[in-house]
Amino acid sequence: MEKLLIEGGHPLRGTVKISGAKNAVLPVIAATLLGQDRPSLLEEVPHLEDVTTISEIVRSIGAKTEYNAEKETLTVDATNLTATEAPSELVRKMRASFLLMGPLLSRYGHAKISLPGGCAIGTRPIDLHLKGFEALGAKIEIGHGFIKVEAPNGLEGNRIYLDFPSVGATENILMAASTARGQTILENPAEEPEIVDLANFLNVMGANIRGAGTNPIKINGVEKLRGQEYMIIPDRIEAGTYMLAAAMTKGDVFIENAISEHLKPVIAKLKEAGAVLYEDVNGIRVSSDKPLKAVDIKTLPYPGFPTDMQAQFMAMLSVSEGNGSIIETVFENRFMHVEELRRMGAKITVDDRRAEVIGIPELKAARVKATDLRAGAAMVLAGLVANGETTVTALHHIDRGYDRLVEKLIGLGAHIKRVEE
Ligand code: EPU
Repeated sequence: MEKLLIEGGHPLRGTVKISGAKNAVLPVIAATLLGQDRPSLLEEVPHLEDVTTISEIVRSIGAKTEYNAEKETLTVDATNLTATEAPSELVRKMRASFLLMGPLLSRYGHAKISLPGGCAIGTRPIDLHLKGFEALGAKIEIGHGFIKVEAPNGLEGNRIYLDFPSVGATENILMAASTARGQTILENPAEEPEIVDLANFLNVMGANIRGAGTNPIKINGVEKLRGQEYMIIPDRIEAGTYMLAAAMTKGDVFIENAISEHLKPVIAKLKEAGAVLYEDVNGIRVSSDKPLKAVDIKTLPYPGFPTDMQAQFMAMLSVSEGNGSIIETVFENRFMHVEELRRMGAKITVDDRRAEVIGIPELKAARVKATDLRAGAAMVLAGLVANGETTVTALHHIDRGYDRLVEKLIGLGAHIKRVEE
């Protein structure tokens, strides 16, 4: 087992390049399964455990994949798939594996997948995905630990209303409806940039999707899709995490590739806290030379404040001047980092989905663990400003979603190393 050792108190300076977005590349890899005739070539594919896992899953059903780590390209050849059922031990590792359901159902008329895994940040049901498949004419069978969907006569377009703008359900429905007969109108869909990225890729493959990123999305079914070349968008959550690292350490960092349009609530809240930001077409520069002020946060579906930045902001509020509150509305159990931050001296109280943070001048280094991916990022941020040497364990969570975190932070002057326990 490895751990991170972080010596706090060193301002970050320089330029960090943001990698391709985890939450865009995973659905896009799922969508490559719709690619007939020729392989797909994806660019800006980050070095992440989740990418390795989903690649293993698509290989297990007959796709051929090749990752070029240096060029950050991934080829997926799905011209000859051999199965419509993925091995449960792989699927359980990652909730996003349920995204294979839409493309397999669309291409073969049936699919079977184990109940998905993922971070323990809530119950995370998949009822909205299933409701979407049913509306398109599929029959659902739920057995012990698996879900089977079948549409022997193919899928038929329909009007679908999502009770909540679920990111995964929107993605699965987009992929399934792309080759359904007729038109699908998806109302109250998720509007995240990753949805737009997936729709753009599907359209490049030959789909006819209009309105992704708005409400509603219209999908006119086409006969088939072909493998294509596509470049993944930069990771807005990775960018947001480095923006906070710059501001919290009183540093000055250019976050290359960050797209301001995707980060509006994060930018607004950092400015409100007193950080200095310059936005340009190539990225965002963040600096700060004085203590940050506490702000209030409420997570919401896009374009609201992203739940994937909530834990990192809690680390920031822990050392800001004044009292801040955080309301988590997207997931019901995403405060596991509170206990870990408290080990470092943070003053946080939680009442259901609301946390109150009383800012203190300095956190104390401690041994803490990454309880999930973004909680892990929060621990790293806390370690960067704590007094002493912080140890962060359970790094497998961080490896799922942060591309070469240690190298990137060292490049900015952080005193961080990864060592064996
Ligand atoms: N939900 C339902 N029913 C469903 C689907 C979702 O009730 O059928 C609920 C969930 O339980 C949750 C809420 O809706 O409370 C949001 O879930 P959503 O489906 O929108 O999220 P997701 O697709 O499972 C993606 C990201 C998450 C990110 C969320 C919200 C990927 C692979 N994952 O998850 O990313 O937090 O959207 O923005 O795209 C992360 O990167 O750390 C991460 C957890």
